Amino acid sequence: MLSEKMYNILNEQVSKEAYASQLYLAMASWAEARGLEGISQWFYAQSEEEREHMLKFIHFINERGGHATVPKIELPPKDFPGVREAFDASLEHEQMVSEAINDIVALSLEERDFATNNWIQWFVEEQMEEEASVQSIIDKLELLGDRNLYIFDRDIMAMRAAGESKE
Ligand code: FEO
Repeated sequence: MLSEKMYNILNEQVSKEAYASQLYLAMASWAEARGLEGISQWFYAQSEEEREHMLKFIHFINERGGHATVPKIELPPKDFPGVREAFDASLEHEQMVSEAINDIVALSLEERDFATNNWIQWFVEEQMEEEASVQSIIDKLELLGDRNLYIFDRDIMAMRAAGESKE
């Protein structure tokens, strides 16, 4: 059984994951409308992953005797100043989500809720991977510069495909 405090923080995380999914969806649509196929595919796939994260939280809350609330989702931006800015915003968002996951870890230890502590570890690792993945894209963009957006777009498509074949 979840404490009220734990229930609330987990439910807030449902909302954060839902917003992450919408944010990536907005970035995907923005990139697709500009003919950036590889980049849009990357963001669409990311949006799906975030939806899966949201569902994991919903299922966990319900399995532990709670009733997860489906959140009202804030409207994400429609436009982004550029590709680099979109990835910078992604990294910033992932860092914010990592902080939120850390807060859940801290509360689980404070409450001696070891079931939640054990379950949330998957997200601790996932966040490390997501931050590293976005950071590696930003590093690549830094190397290529805006002039080579076409090459970058093809590259990111190949990166995603390679990642999927490993899963
Ligand atoms: Fe589910 Fe990338 O936060």
